[in-house]
Amino acid sequence: MSRKLIVATGNRGKVKEINAIVAEMGFDVQSLLDLEGAPEIIEDRDTFEGNAAKKAQTVFDVFGVPTLADDSGLVVDALDGAPGVYSARYGGPGLSDIERYEKLLHELRDVPDEQRTARFECALAFVETGTPPRIFRGTIEGKISYSPSGDNGFGYDPVFIPIERQCTMAELSDENKKKISHRGRALRAFEKWLKQTVDQ
Ligand code: IMP
Repeated sequence: MSRKLIVATGNRGKVKEINAIVAEMGFDVQSLLDLEGAPEIIEDRDTFEGNAAKKAQTVFDVFGVPTLADDSGLVVDALDGAPGVYSARYGGPGLSDIERYEKLLHELRDVPDEQRTARFECALAFVETGTPPRIFRGTIEGKISYSPSGDNGFGYDPVFIPIERQCTMAELSDENKKKISHRGRALRAFEKWLKQTVDQ
């Protein structure tokens, strides 16, 4: 019998990437897009880990089902780490993904290639009965491009060039993004931990 898991996000890009991996792990997955009565969660912590733990705990407290939450974002060195935990709200509420990365490119318009270093970070928090949130992390290093390219993925993918590639994250197939992305790495850490707990 498969185990139930709620993925505590309503972000369609994240849902697609996380569901593809956790369904392979044998979970019967639902996201906040499938559930009525999902609580509104204010992401007011100043770390990815803190926000992920808050999201997972809040959703677990409502539904009582093991819950996995993702908090992630883009950390740009030339902007002292911005947009960071504010990646989803960069430039203010109501902007589209395109408007947000256009703003980022504008902010970096005079920044030379060697100073355009950045990374995507992901913290996953898993909550089940009686345990504090367990955190799993993943990072991918790269650079911000000068113009957008590609239409796979979501968010800042069209302007992020992974260090081991010559193209943007949005030019990678779903399969290749999964192999190298911050989220793919964090999900593999989660999977490894799950296997260890089952084997114990
Ligand atoms: P939050 O975790 O809900 O606060 O939102 C994270 C935000 O970071 C997303 O809305 C995207 O803008 C950005 N982000 C996180 N992961 C990715 C990714 O894999 N590709 C592109 N953008 C991402």
